[in-house]
Amino acid sequence: MSRVETIAEGVTLYLGDCREILPTLAKFDAVVTDPPYGIGKDGQKRTTGGHGGRKAYEFKGWDKERPDPEIFSMLLQCGAKHVIWGGNYFADLFPPTGKWLVWDKGQRISQSDGELAWTSENGALRIFDLNRVALMTDGAQHPTQKPVEVMRWSIQQLNHPKTIIDPFMGSGTTGVAAVDLGLSFTGIEIDPQYFDIACRRIEAAFNAPRLFAEPTQQTQAQEAFEL
Ligand SMILES: C[S@@+](CC[C@H](N)C(=O)[O-])C[C@H]1O[C@@H](n2cnc3c(N)ncnc32)[C@H](O)[C@@H]1O
Repeated sequence: MSRVETIAEGVTLYLGDCREILPTLAKFDAVVTDPPYGIGKDGQKRTTGGHGGRKAYEFKGWDKERPDPEIFSMLLQCGAKHVIWGGNYFADLFPPTGKWLVWDKGQRISQSDGELAWTSENGALRIFDLNRVALMTDGAQHPTQKPVEVMRWSIQQLNHPKTIIDPFMGSGTTGVAAVDLGLSFTGIEIDPQYFDIACRRIEAAFNAPRLFAEPTQQTQAQEAFEL
């Protein structure tokens, strides 16, 4: 491991390989992450205007293939609950559950209409409508950067976790969402350039006025009716 940054109490970021770092950490309430899917998205030129414009990202090779099955068993072990984006690419490695998450990107063009996350939960499937193109007007700093709203909603789908880990942190979006909600966050990223971006974004989120983890209407309704 080459670097550890403590942004604040309970907010710790590791620069390094999650395969080496995860075994050294205690168990977390929730793993909320977006691993490489193995579909070659890194370095690909953006084709829509709003997500950072027609920006080309440096090819780094991390999305050439999906992570080894061994990493997914580490992910399952290091947390009590899970949201794993790109779940459709890894469905053979997870137990069957009911509560898949769907992010409907509000686009009906040649690109995908939405994205899927596998969760460890057995409640009802949930859909989040969020128009990607309208939203990412400030320019993404990572080729597969998720909107903060999507990761905040992802955390809120679990039953009030207090400690969150994202072992494939990228530009730190899960961390921004976690600190917005007043939660403890640990992030791991292998690429120094993305790691620095994550440090800056999460520190800025920590210093900004906080939302704190008020239950959403949806989570309240879920608690009342979930089977
Ligand atoms: C899909 S991206 C995450 C993007 C993130 N959700 C965001 O909003 O910026 C996956 C990230 O995992 C990182 N990565 C790949 N293998 C890794 C490993 N073994 N340990 C830690 N990070 C890794 C890549 O560098 C990449 O930034």
